[in-house]
Amino acid sequence: MLTDFAKAYLRISMSNILLTGGAGFIGSHIAVELRKAGYVPIILDNLSNSLDSAVDGISKITGRKEVLHNIDCRRENEVVDLIEKVGGISGIVHLAAFKAVGESVQNPSKYYDNNIGSMGSILRVAEKFCVEQFVFSSSCTVYGSPQEAEVTESTPMGNAYSPYGYTKQVGERMMIDLVKAGVKTKFVSLRYFNPIGAHPSAWIGEFPIGKPNNLVPYICQTSIGLRDELTVYGNDYNTRDGSCIRDYIHVCDIATAHVKALDYMLKPTAPQHDVFNIGTGKGNSVKEIIDTFKEVNEIEFKVIQGSRRPGDVAAIYANNQKAQSILGWHPEYTLADALKHAWNWQKTL
Ligand code: UFG
Repeated sequence: MLTDFAKAYLRISMSNILLTGGAGFIGSHIAVELRKAGYVPIILDNLSNSLDSAVDGISKITGRKEVLHNIDCRRENEVVDLIEKVGGISGIVHLAAFKAVGESVQNPSKYYDNNIGSMGSILRVAEKFCVEQFVFSSSCTVYGSPQEAEVTESTPMGNAYSPYGYTKQVGERMMIDLVKAGVKTKFVSLRYFNPIGAHPSAWIGEFPIGKPNNLVPYICQTSIGLRDELTVYGNDYNTRDGSCIRDYIHVCDIATAHVKALDYMLKPTAPQHDVFNIGTGKGNSVKEIIDTFKEVNEIEFKVIQGSRRPGDVAAIYANNQKAQSILGWHPEYTLADALKHAWNWQKTL
């Protein structure tokens, strides 16, 4: 007779989790954490913004030969065939999406087509296979420009500042509508704040294709000499030093939140739909990030002052109490760790 603990262990150890966007920055770190927790990541990615070498990095860390399934989520039949081939899935972690805020303003159709199209297709797959657990990669951009910099999950969603942010709001709404329509899957949205860093092993990390949009990859590329200088966008925000404030969180901490969310959904008491902020709970300014990076990595690089970047909100950071108390999730890495790991990864490229 198996104990409840043994049954739970067996169930988890046998669970295939479809991981869309699994070769990307956050996805590759989630694949590692899924393995660590006894889940089997079924890595799906169309490599539109990632490299297949990420899967080699994941394999080095997990000590297993991980497999990349090069499929676009919008090709629903191919996703269905894959799931049948691997013998079914119990959960889905859906990340596959475009994520550059500025690009989404320039080319909204690209974002609506890919982000909402993929979500629609993957939700139909979830319904078809009666998937138990579904984690959606959402973003703090759903809050728009909040009145208070510290946001809780009940802070109202503001006007989305960009088509990218709107696709995340729509994704969350789609899951709520499915629940209302009687679909049995449990859904969790994780609203990420600003993911940074890399795996401590430096086998996986962020690989921006072309010129980086995000602050930390830009700092790394400037430090290594690929870029001449870093521009600080704006010095006249109503913040402590005039630059924008964000909640920068280590990518490994974001990854562990997905495992916690999957485990949470197995509890009979978990509601059918829930939302969690995944941030450190602390805001740092652009200038603080630059200074900390220089200090912990003992490196200098050129910084110039520029004007505000369109679409940026002045300040936002997470209240993460709900994730801490309900998921039992806690960020483990410091800002210094994240900036060291980002730099260690950059040096391997
Ligand atoms: N910044 C600079 N110089 C740069 C790049 C960025 O000063 O070269 C500033 C920005 O103006 C902003 C801050 O650094 O004030 C952070 O900018 P990022 O582009 O790194 O991050 P964002 O907050 O704009 O957005 C990021 C992701 C989104 C995600 C969001 C919240 O790009 O996909 O975090 O999750 F939705």
